[in-house]
Amino acid sequence: MGKALMTRKDVPSGGLVHERDKKEMVIRKDLKKEISHVLISSTYLHERIRGLAEEIIRDARRKKAKELQVVIVLKGAAGFANILAQDIFKAGGPPIRFNYIKVSSYGKDVVSSGHVRIAGQLPYVRDKDILIVDDIVDTGLTLAKLKSYLLDERGASSVKICALLDKRARRLPELRRKLRIDYVGFRVPDMFVAGYGIDCAEHLRELPYIVAVNEEYFRKKQAKKKGR
Ligand code: PRP
Repeated sequence: MGKALMTRKDVPSGGLVHERDKKEMVIRKDLKKEISHVLISSTYLHERIRGLAEEIIRDARRKKAKELQVVIVLKGAAGFANILAQDIFKAGGPPIRFNYIKVSSYGKDVVSSGHVRIAGQLPYVRDKDILIVDDIVDTGLTLAKLKSYLLDERGASSVKICALLDKRARRLPELRRKLRIDYVGFRVPDMFVAGYGIDCAEHLRELPYIVAVNEEYFRKKQAKKKGR
């Protein structure tokens, strides 16, 4: 038996930094305004993604799945999905079919509206077991809409969800029980986060770790943009 794989972790607001990653705590000078601190360092991310790969493989074996049909939600999940797929391969999992989709939400903070527009080609969906891969779940609206689109409009036979981060405190009350996130990497506190594919106003996606963003700085920036 190999080393025990990391299971889902609840991240404290002060962060989860591995001894080996202490250097990541020193934020680059030019990013000091944008970033508050490192929330999840690279070693933790990689260990947990390996754990997610194992969980996905275990379920796929139970279902005797010959391949995994993965739907990756752009843009944020692209990098995470690649690492996850490589870990599934390294751990001897089934072959993976990649599908990409772009989901845009409108009126996210208006509970009653919640329109979600879905764009992308999905050739392999009908009668298939689908695994959606996303970077973060917040209100849950995007994934709830995408899941019902795949099941009800595209005829998928089942849909599971894998998300690297879950900001559960932000979930819409009506989705709290209804929307099941089958594979969660980390539960994060209700704060602005970025990195590892996740953006803050299109900044910081390229960071190889997750950071807590300086909310004040970005709020001021947004307000300036709007000319206020
Ligand atoms: C993010 C994230 C999810 C969604 C979660 O995408 O990747 O898809 O928001 O929010 P929700 O749970 O409140 O619906 P975003 O719209 O920021 O697009 P991006 O990945 O292209 O940055």
